[in-house]
Amino acid sequence: MRPVILTHFSYLVTGGAGFIGSNLCEALLGSGNKVVCLDNLATGRIQNIDAFMQNPDFSFIRGDIRNMDDCKKAVQGVDVVLHQAALGSVPRSIKDPQSTHEVNVNGFLNVLLAARDAGIKRFVYASSSSVYGDSAELPKTEEKIGKPLSPYAVSKTCNELYANVFHKVYGMETIGLRYFNVFGKHQDPEGAYAAAIPKFIKALIQHESPLIHGDGSHSRDFTYVKNVVLMNQLAAATTNEEAFGQVFNTAVGERFNLNQMLELIKTYLTKWDAKISQIEVKYGPERQGDIPHSLASIEKAKRVLGYQPAYLFEAGLKEALDWYWENLQQ
Ligand SMILES: NC(=O)c1ccc[n+]([C@@H]2O[C@H](COP(=O)([O-])OP(=O)(O)OC[C@H]3O[C@@H](n4cnc5c(N)ncnc54)[C@H](O)[C@@H]3O)[C@@H](O)[C@H]2O)c1
Repeated sequence: MRPVILTHFSYLVTGGAGFIGSNLCEALLGSGNKVVCLDNLATGRIQNIDAFMQNPDFSFIRGDIRNMDDCKKAVQGVDVVLHQAALGSVPRSIKDPQSTHEVNVNGFLNVLLAARDAGIKRFVYASSSSVYGDSAELPKTEEKIGKPLSPYAVSKTCNELYANVFHKVYGMETIGLRYFNVFGKHQDPEGAYAAAIPKFIKALIQHESPLIHGDGSHSRDFTYVKNVVLMNQLAAATTNEEAFGQVFNTAVGERFNLNQMLELIKTYLTKWDAKISQIEVKYGPERQGDIPHSLASIEKAKRVLGYQPAYLFEAGLKEALDWYWENLQQ
């Protein structure tokens, strides 16, 4: 990965025990920063942060962003907030929109208010490609979004509106990162709301048929987690005022369909286990709220933040598969 030169900061990573949050904690600690992690372990796992527990630069607060006192405690002494905590998954939000709203909107506002009141200016947060909703335009450019197709997309759109207004009204340096289908180590393959890549990897390693919703022609801009870490580092460090109050696609700018993605996973895993090449894929009905195609323009991130993806899809997938192979075997 391209090195990012940063002064050392004290960071709050909300959702730091989750998939993306724990990768962020690792990278920040690795470059000599202090990290506070606030997480209620709703979907995150203590195993993801076990390795940092003895690190004097790391502290873990088991708390809830729906609770203002927890947020106030977490922002003490912090320079930069990297807000990741949320309930992810479009299907989860369709099943239970209220919980999604309470965590993703009310919780977001709590963290934003706590940061403002503590005098923290830089507030970088996880938005999502889901805000593009029913817009069919490809590639997706930041200024043209469609209508949301799920409560999850509403919640992320709401985050962007609040962050923009907090920049205008209170001068906070808010920067939203619209993540596109992130994958990599620590992403949970378990449960009804697991993302496609870890679910497929787990199924194949266990010699089960992976289930694709639809005919596999849906395509995504699959983004390796180290690109997401890089975007957070760039957003945390930027001195370009043009970035404040703005949102940036966080992606690679290339797309693969689900059939292609599965073929790549199968081919790679077959080098360890020849039987995997024989496993058939199952196809099921499409899921509500799913968009057919997604591809990001990353021009704005390049221009304003100096971003250049550190990993293309296949390089990231190989690294992720090495990790899953080692960790799902145990
Ligand atoms: N993974 C993706 O492809 C993707 C895509 C777009 C956006 N995002 C966003 O990125 C962020 C991180 O997602 P992830 O994939 O790492 O998911 P994750 O579920 O692994 O991480 C979310 C973390 O937030 C924590 N959390 C949930 N509710 C909380 C609460 N009330 N208080 C405190 N902590 C709470 C969870 O325990 C978990 O550790 C989320 O905001 C998500 O919406 C992810």
